[in-house]
Amino acid sequence: MRIGIAADHGGFDLKLQLSEALKAKGYEVKDFGAYTLVEGDDYPDFVIPLAEAVSKGEVNRGIAICGSGVGACIAANKVPNVRAGLIGDSYSAHQGVEDDNMNMLCLGGRVTGYALSLELAQIFLSANFNETERFKRRLEKITQLEKKY
Ligand code: RB5
Repeated sequence: MRIGIAADHGGFDLKLQLSEALKAKGYEVKDFGAYTLVEGDDYPDFVIPLAEAVSKGEVNRGIAICGSGVGACIAANKVPNVRAGLIGDSYSAHQGVEDDNMNMLCLGGRVTGYALSLELAQIFLSANFNETERFKRRLEKITQLEKKY
């Protein structure tokens, strides 16, 4: 599976750690920056290119990190076809994929430690969408909303 990862200064260290760990586990990881730690850089500069790559299918899934994960999640969800969730527990890490076809995992680099973040990422990346009618029906309503705007 080809995945993308992005972070601002608030998630910079966690991005490096997760990138290396996920590569070691066999994932192809494309880094969308930040490539150097710059205090005060802006999460949209890195998260939006990642979200666009997810939207176009250039990567299968994305992991976006800022200090809290909130800004990254807000930015990612502005891009059509992106379904990003700010995740801090294992249940949501797989249920968000199974029920809601979540394709981007957002993490708070100042909130969620490395070990838990890696577990959450692996759970997210291992989960698959459950293509039952009610889940598809709900997503179709969101797709229609995207078309409206
Ligand atoms: C730090 O600048 C912080 O505001 C940012 O990383 C992120 O948490 C925003 O949601």
